[in-house]
Formats: sequence, C-alpha cells, structure tokens
Amino acid sequence: MPIHLGAAWYPEHWPEERWQVDLDLMRAAGLTVVRIGEFAWADLEPVEGQFDLGWLVRATEMAHASGLSVVVGTPTAAPPAWLTAAYPEVLAIDGSGARAQHGKRCHFDVTSPLYRAFCARVAERMALALGHAPGVIGWQIDNEYNRLTYSPQAATAFRLWLQEQFVDEQGRPSLARLNRAWSTSYWSERYTDWAQIPLPAEDNHNPGLVLSFRRFMTHAYREYQRAQVQAIRAHADPSHWITSNFMGFFDGFDHYPICEDLDLACWDHYIGTGNLDLDRAAASHDLTRGFKRRNFWVMETQPGCVNWAPINNVLNRGEARAMAWNGIGHGADAVLYWQWRPAPGGQEQYHGSLLGPDGRPRPFYREVGELAADLQLVGPLLDGTTVSAPVAVLHSYDDRWAIDHQRHHRGFDPLAHLLHYHRPIARRSIATDIVSTRADLVGRGYRLVVGAPIHIVDESIAAELAAYVREGGHLVLSARSGFKDYNNALPPQRQPALLQDLAGVQVEEYYAVLDTVKVDLSLGGATATGEAHTWAEWLVPGRATQVLARYGSGNGWLDGQPAVTMHQAGRGRVYYVGAWLADDLQDRLLAWIIAQAGVEPVLDKLPVGVRASRRGDVHILLNGGREAATVTLPWPGKDALRPDRAASDQIDLGPYGVAVVTNDQADQYQTGQRTSDE
Ligand code: GLA
Repeated sequence: MPIHLGAAWYPEHWPEERWQVDLDLMRAAGLTVVRIGEFAWADLEPVEGQFDLGWLVRATEMAHASGLSVVVGTPTAAPPAWLTAAYPEVLAIDGSGARAQHGKRCHFDVTSPLYRAFCARVAERMALALGHAPGVIGWQIDNEYNRLTYSPQAATAFRLWLQEQFVDEQGRPSLARLNRAWSTSYWSERYTDWAQIPLPAEDNHNPGLVLSFRRFMTHAYREYQRAQVQAIRAHADPSHWITSNFMGFFDGFDHYPICEDLDLACWDHYIGTGNLDLDRAAASHDLTRGFKRRNFWVMETQPGCVNWAPINNVLNRGEARAMAWNGIGHGADAVLYWQWRPAPGGQEQYHGSLLGPDGRPRPFYREVGELAADLQLVGPLLDGTTVSAPVAVLHSYDDRWAIDHQRHHRGFDPLAHLLHYHRPIARRSIATDIVSTRADLVGRGYRLVVGAPIHIVDESIAAELAAYVREGGHLVLSARSGFKDYNNALPPQRQPALLQDLAGVQVEEYYAVLDTVKVDLSLGGATATGEAHTWAEWLVPGRATQVLARYGSGNGWLDGQPAVTMHQAGRGRVYYVGAWLADDLQDRLLAWIIAQAGVEPVLDKLPVGVRASRRGDVHILLNGGREAATVTLPWPGKDALRPDRAASDQIDLGPYGVAVVTNDQADQYQTGQRTSDE
C-alpha cells in the first residue's frame, strides 16, 4: 500500500457541479485519498427509513474517476434531528442527569439498543451502496468516540454486564463476589440486589465501581461499534479494511479491546495551541501503532490551525510537513488533512483547511503539495516497511483510571508520568512501542520494557513480566507499580505485591510530597544529586538487590532510605524507581539503564532538536525546530528527497527540514549490540 495523502471532503455542503473542481484541485495538490460521509446522516437518511445515497455514490464514483481512493465514514457521530426528536432515549444523559441536546455532535447514548439499530441500518445501506464501489478502500466507524452516559438504559446494561463479570465457580452471577471485590462493608455500600448498583455519576464513588463502570463503557462502545462492523462486513468487499479514528491518549474508553474488532488503528493528530514537539507527538504515534502492533493512519491532522484551542496559531511554514514526516517515521501509512474546505456555517468556520470559502487554495495548500511531492519521490521506498523497536513502554487505561480516581497528589497525572519515561527514550531517537500492559513481551525482541507504572497487576501480567525478565529482558518499574489488584483494591501484600520477588523490593511507605525531596543517584561509580517531587516511596530492598539512589534529608521519614533499586532476576534485571524524579535525574537514570540494556538509538550523536526514525532500511531525519542543523552520519547516505545530491555523511537540514536517507551498506556500519556488561 502506498503512503496516502488526503483530506476529509464534505461534498454534501456544495452543489454537485462544484465537485469536479474540488477533485481536480485535490489531484493537482497530489492527494491520493478522500474521506467522506461521516456526519452526513441528515443527507443520507433525510426522513426516517428513506435513504438517499445516490449523491454519496456519485461523489465516490467521481473521486475514483479522478484517481482518488475513498474511505467511507459512517455518520453515526451526528444523529439527525428527526431521530433525536422522535426517540429522545437515544440521547446521552450526563452525570447531573441532563439529557444531551440536539445541535452539537456525539450526543447519542452509546448503550441505547434502539440507537445501535438505527446506526447498523444506515451503515448497512452504505455498505450495500458502496461495498463494491471501485475506489473504496476502507471504512471508518463513527468519529472519535468520546461520550459517557448515565442513562437508565446504561444502568440496566451495566448491571447485566456486572453479572457476567462477577460469577461463582459454576459461572453463576455472584453478588457476594462483587461485594467482596469492592469491599462493600465499607460505608455500608453492600448490595443485596443487582438493581441497587448505581452508575458512578458523582465524585468519590467506590474505586471498584468506578473502574468497573469504565470497563463497561468500553464494552458498550465495542458493542456499538460491532453492530456497524458486522453490517459493513456483510456487504463490503473483503479487501476493505475497517477502522475508527481516535484521539491519541484520550482515555474515555479502553482502546485495546476496541481495536480487536478493527483492521487498522487511526488517530487524529492536532497540536492546537503551540508548536510541534516531536517527542510528544512520537508518543501518540507509538501508542497508535501499538493498538494493533502494526502501521496506522493519521486520519486527521491540522492544515495550519484548528479552531478549538485557546490560541489557534497557524503552524510555521514547513512545520506541518515535519509533523507529517514524524508520523510516517513512526509508522503512519497515511496523513489526511481535516478538512478540504470549510462549510460556510456551522461550528468550525475558522478551522484551517486547504481551500478557502471562495473555493480557491489557501496558502497551506502549497505545503501539502510539497509533502505530496516528497511522497511521490520516496513513497515506494517506504512501501511495506515498518518500525522495529527495542523498547516497549507499557500502557493501561485501567491504570490511568485507577490513578486518576485516587491521585493522592493532585500533580500525579498518570499520562504525564508515563510521558516522563517515554520522553528520555524518544529524545535519544530510540524506537519505542507503546503497548498494553497485557501485551505479550516474550519473543518480541525487546531489550527494555518500561512500566510507568504497571499499577494494576494480576497473575497474568505478573507471569508475562517474569517470563520476559527471566529470558534476559530489562524491566523498569516506576513508583505505584503493583499497587492495586484487578478490581482496584489494595492487594494483601506490600506493594509492588505480585511483583515483589521479581523486583526484589518492597514499598515500606509511600508519600505524596509537598515540596521536593533530595535524591542522591549512584550509577556505576558516577554520582549525581537532584530532586524528586510529587511522589516518593521508601523502598526496602531484598538481600540481592542493589540500591542505585537514596533520599537526602527532607521530611525525616525518607532520609537516607532507598529510592531506586536494581535486581538481577534470572538473566534479566528489574529496576524499581520509587520516586517521580526531576527531569535531569530522570534523564540521567534512563540513559544509564538504556546503556545497561544494550539499547541502540536509530542514529547516535544527532544535533539538538533533530530526531531519527527508521522504517525498514530507510532512515528519516527530522529537524523539529527553526534552526538549521547538520547531521553527521556514520556512513555515506543518500537523501532520497534530494536525488540530485551525491551520497554523503553530512546531511543538512533546514528549519523543519526532512531527509529520507538510504544506504545499502548502513548495516555494516552499525555499532553492534552492546551487552549489559559494558
Ligand atoms: C476532530 C473531528 C473533526 C474536526 C476536527 C477539528 O478531530 O474528528 O470532525 O472537528 O476535530 O479539529
């Protein structure tokens, strides 16, 4: 499959006579794909049961005739007014009990069986009309699932779902099990009937209930999605893939089970206010690649600016091209701009687009053309390639929900904490997978796995980590690892509970830190003093465990106690980092662990602000800033974007510069795998 470049196109906003002009301009810019249909329900089914898909079919035919592939979006994120007016129960209800209003989007109740039936029907009609239409390559279900609901039908479905989760040895629903798992003697919460179980619509509900509800909402979205997936699969060509577009690290539902029913993972990459941060963006790309452990699409990205951020600044000249290449370097097989041309009215009038309201190209259109020219030159080199990562950072929605519900220190943002571990790795241009804490790790070629933290640990997670380490893997466990059991309750052991033996450490006490705590780090003879903030654990190492850092004087409790430990387990090693270290110490510690684990960057000794990624044999060099930079390669490379230049070990990158470097002999120059003994 080529690397696609495209845009979201809304032909329903314009007279048909205009469409060919749009398509010609798309081709002239070098676009290869359009996404159509999402949000068009009112035009596809203007009256209940009366469908008008002719225009969508004609738009698809014209796109195909113009050489563009088509992704069809189901319109279910925007139910039409006739539907919400006639059947108000399809509208979501928020935590305060208020029903969502028509006139925005995503106002549906994902648990409504009636709504699912309407969605399946419109998806089926679309699949019947376009399932074998030339040019169609895939389908997008809905758009950015996001809303929770607290409706009576959600409560009913939740209670039925709980009856499948909490069962006795014979597999029968067991309230006793639920009561035990949630410790419901506490505050007399005990349930004597399933019907008594509330939805956690208010603050400070039982952590077991809260976590179960989040899992249930994932289940509801999965069922909702499945109804449409089935409708499409029944009628569409089997070569068509099915996806949905996500929002990076958004945590409204658990993306891992949702992705099991999809063929492709996608995300919508927006910066909003500010500028491109290559490492932060890399994290979201790594996350999305990890959903299916394969390449993904950037289904939407910003053509210059958005309209919804506090300051909707336009990205600098060239910045969006670098943004796209950063995605491609991390495994994106497509980049689509949102949107082609703004509707004259509606909520998104000020959003960036490729055409203006007059139907003529805006300045940004030129930059898209440059990216298209890049892809025409080097697309074939990247065809079929992917990213191979020596490091995995583990990620879990359960963990994020559990910590967010009981942060203990308001600054303990679980996502910020995960990124605190990802960034020092990404900034060294080390390829990293972000995968589920339930992903298999053995036999994947990882030299380093990072759990930041692995907060909820059950037997199966513990067993996989142990197997990975015993085979020689290095594992980093951050503070708050092993703090909770599957039901978000405290385990009966000292933390990290089921990981105690593997980590060779116990947490004597944990502290939310008011100011900072001093930390003395000692790594193979080199020492450094710095600080920790937010969270600090007093660690008790086992007999065979080495202490890598101790707290300095501070609150008295922590003085002189171990803060970071290292434990040899089988052929591998486990590091336990008991505190939220300040950035400089964190960077130093991770640099040392990376070296210990024998992890190699894609390229070493890059100028500040330059990052390298690798797909197959192709190296992608990116300058994330406005200062020009020169990269010295360890081998003579040829920049495929500048075919007129001879191979050289010096590659110049202008502001936001990109080079796509090939060298047949690059592997001969690799420094080879370092071992942990060096
Ligand atoms: C989201 C949506 C799009 C559009 C863009 C605007 O990603 O999916 O429909 O609203 O935001 O940035």
